[in-house]
Amino acid sequence: MSTMYEADEKRYDGTMKYRRAGRSGILLSELSLGLWHNFGAENDFENSKQMLHTAFDKGITQFDLANNYGPPNGSAEETFGKVMKSSFSPYRSELFIATKAGHEMWPGPYGDWGSRKSLMNSLDQSLKRMNLDYVDIFYTHRYDPNTPLEETMQALVDLVKQGKTLYVGISKYPPKAAAFAYNYLRERDVPCLLYQGRYNLLNREVEKEGIIDQANEAGAGFVAFSPLAQGLLSDRYLSGNVEKGSRMSLGQFLRRTALTDERLKQLNRLSEIAGERGQSLAEMALAWLLRGDKVTSVIVGTSSVAQLQKNLNALKNISFSTEELERIDRVLGTD
Ligand SMILES: NC(=O)c1ccc[n+]([C@@H]2O[C@H](COP(=O)([O-])OP(=O)(O)OC[C@H]3O[C@@H](n4cnc5c(N)ncnc54)[C@H](OP(=O)(O)O)[C@@H]3O)[C@@H](O)[C@H]2O)c1
Repeated sequence: MSTMYEADEKRYDGTMKYRRAGRSGILLSELSLGLWHNFGAENDFENSKQMLHTAFDKGITQFDLANNYGPPNGSAEETFGKVMKSSFSPYRSELFIATKAGHEMWPGPYGDWGSRKSLMNSLDQSLKRMNLDYVDIFYTHRYDPNTPLEETMQALVDLVKQGKTLYVGISKYPPKAAAFAYNYLRERDVPCLLYQGRYNLLNREVEKEGIIDQANEAGAGFVAFSPLAQGLLSDRYLSGNVEKGSRMSLGQFLRRTALTDERLKQLNRLSEIAGERGQSLAEMALAWLLRGDKVTSVIVGTSSVAQLQKNLNALKNISFSTEELERIDRVLGTD
């Protein structure tokens, strides 16, 4: 018989640090756990549950979901809902739970993009799947060029007023749409709490396009997703082999073509620099994102408790010398 989950008493003992999300009252754990992969109905439930328990035990408070995470769609929220019921319900006020709508979710014209209809119906479904009365943040998952942005934004405002979400956020919005969103929401006293964007050593678009600075200036926090470039920035592929069961072996979201000879050389050189810092490549990649104060939290994905535990070690050293930063940039040709 399985025993009742009790969270580790030492979860707030100082190992995990918390950063303020923009100009808000919210503090988020430097590392958050994302449920895009490895939490669907096709995955081993025990493993998913243990990762969630471990995350919370180690001081992670933010759990990042979306309506379509699985597979199949919706099943990561169902997994989370099961754990909510069996383990986390006494801790609801200690958890910061995020979900989103905007990618294809259900058939027909209303299961996708950014209409009021889609967002409102989707959040209702998400709350049921997750066994929750409200989420902490609801995001529009992507910018919809065919829906007036006023409609999408007003749906967010109204969802807050209905008590279904405490805060709102935007994900992957281009700068112009983001500027509109920040203004619209602020004027209605529902300021945007977070911008969620892809950011890692290999992909710095959000830096180059000024999206991080724009969020910070608008008073929103910035949270980084795919911090390990889906696993590329870890020890997993350094030998050039693609292990069975790895995300690249599945080939759907991380393709073999990402592992060119040149990339492999770069990854191995980065791994050497990480080694000199006493870190693994994954640890250094996560630490690099937290090197300054522009990123509020890094949303990592993991397929095992062991990976999660290793990733948490990254937080022990997040400072970089100018020389280290320059070496990294030289390796990647981003200098
Ligand atoms: N807003 C958006 O549009 C959006 C888009 C994408 C993601 N996200 C969010 O961001 C979260 C993270 O994204 P992601 O899964 O792409 O992140 P990621 O952290 O870049 O990649 C996660 C994968 O890296 C591998 N990995 C992690 N730690 C490792 C370690 N220590 N050693 C070796 N391999 C390791 C695992 O792959 P294996 O499975 O191969 O073990 C894991 O599944 C998602 O869950 C989601 O919440 C949001």
